[in-house]
Order: sequence, then structure tokens, then C-alpha cells
Amino acid sequence: MFQTGCLLLLILASLFVQQSPKSFMVNHIQKHTTLFVPLVVDKASTLSRTSRKISNLNEFPFLNYVIGSDWAYSQAVNPFNIDTWKGDLSQFKSRIGKHITWHSDRLISPANSERYYDHVSHTMNIPPSELDDQHRLFRISGLGHCRGGDGAWAIGQTNVLSSMIRWVEEGKAPNTLFGRKYVNGSSRRHCRYPLRNQYHGSGNSSLPESWTCR
Ligand SMILES: *[C@@H]1O[C@H](CO)[C@@H](O)[C@H](O)[C@H]1NC(C)=O
Ligand SMILES: *[C@@H]1O[C@H](CO)[C@@H](O)[C@H](O)[C@H]1NC(C)=O
Repeated sequence: MFQTGCLLLLILASLFVQQSPKSFMVNHIQKHTTLFVPLVVDKASTLSRTSRKISNLNEFPFLNYVIGSDWAYSQAVNPFNIDTWKGDLSQFKSRIGKHITWHSDRLISPANSERYYDHVSHTMNIPPSELDDQHRLFRISGLGHCRGGDGAWAIGQTNVLSSMIRWVEEGKAPNTLFGRKYVNGSSRRHCRYPLRNQYHGSGNSSLPESWTCR
């Protein structure tokens, strides 16, 4: 279970080499320039999106390394096996591994989690109906960057963890993740990809009963 929207991987990786995330970033991105390139799923689109936001890329020299060059080299080096674009998860499947991803973000494109899901589906040549046995992706609408967005974003890490435990120990896979927005009280059952929530067209849109996963 991991959340692609946060810098969890960065923090885990920094724990691995026993440095603070900041000095890890400086040492391993700015100097060696190899670590984070594999994390950027789509070099071209990320670069253009980043360039639009940052008028002068030279103000952030590490971005030039991370996104602008050394792409193939970094993929080849793949330090700590940190590449996040592996599509063949058959070994994980054969161990009856279970994988829950949830994502929505206004900074880090949720489309990358969908692309990864589709990539696994294509690489292993199994449709979502079968991939459901192993890998479920939940798109949390209106989550924001890890928290605090406009939607029913409070899904509760313990709820997600409980879902994982029920899936592994009782074979009951989660079909939705329940979220709340405490201010103004809306709640929502977030669907698993590729299903999406559709409003019935009537009824109180703040209530989960007014929506269906289709
Ligand atoms: C809560 O609802 C009120 C009334 O519709 C609105 O003015 C306010 O902005 C809402 N607060 C949030 C945090 O959405
Ligand atoms: C819709 O549901 C929310 C959450 O329960 C509630 O706060 C709100 O008053 C409801 N709106 C209407 C029009 O019933």
C-alpha cells in the first residue's frame, strides 16, 4: 500500500542511506543526478508541465538533470532498484501479493498512477477484472496534495490498512474506499479504477448513496 502523491519513497530511500531527506536529495539528485529520473513516468510531459510553471529552469539546476537529461542512463543504472515503471509483477502475483494504491493530487499527476495500472495490465496481458485479484487503484476525487482538498478526502490510513488486512486474511477485497470531508459533511465511496463515480442526477450529492461506481 503506498501513496504516490507524497514523498514517501524519498523518505524511505533516505532512511535506507541514513540521511535526512533534504541532504539525501542534495547529495543524490543534484550531484549524481541518477536517482529520481526513473520516478518521472513521462519525461516529455513532465518537462513541459514543469517548464510552464517554472519560467527559468536554470533557477532549479537539479531539474535539468532529473528531467532534462541522463534519462536513459538513469533508467539503466536504476539505483537501489527504485525504478517505478516495472510492468511485470508476476513474481508478486505468484506470491499471492496484494497491492492497494490510492491517489489524487493537484501537484503530482494522478494520471501517472492510471498509466502505471494500464502498463501493468498490458505488460502482464490481464484485464482489470483479473488484475483486481492482485492490484487495486483507488482514485480519491478532491483529495488535494495528501490532504485537505475539496472532496471527501479523509479516507483514514487505518481504514486503508484494515482493507488490506481483510483482503489478505479473509479474502475480502475492497471495492471502494470510504472518505469523508468533515467540514460541511460530505462523504463518498471512492471507486476502484477503471470504474468511476457517477452522480445519479438527483439526490443529495454530499451523500454516497447518490453516486454509483460504473
Ligand atoms: C461550507 O459551506 C458553506 C455554505 O455553503 C460555504 O460558504 C463554505 O465555504 C463551506 N466550507 C468549506 C470548507 O467548504
Ligand atoms: C446533504 O447532505 C449533507 C451531509 O449529510 C447535509 O449536511 C446537507 O444538509 C444535505 N443537503 C440537503 C439539501 O439535504
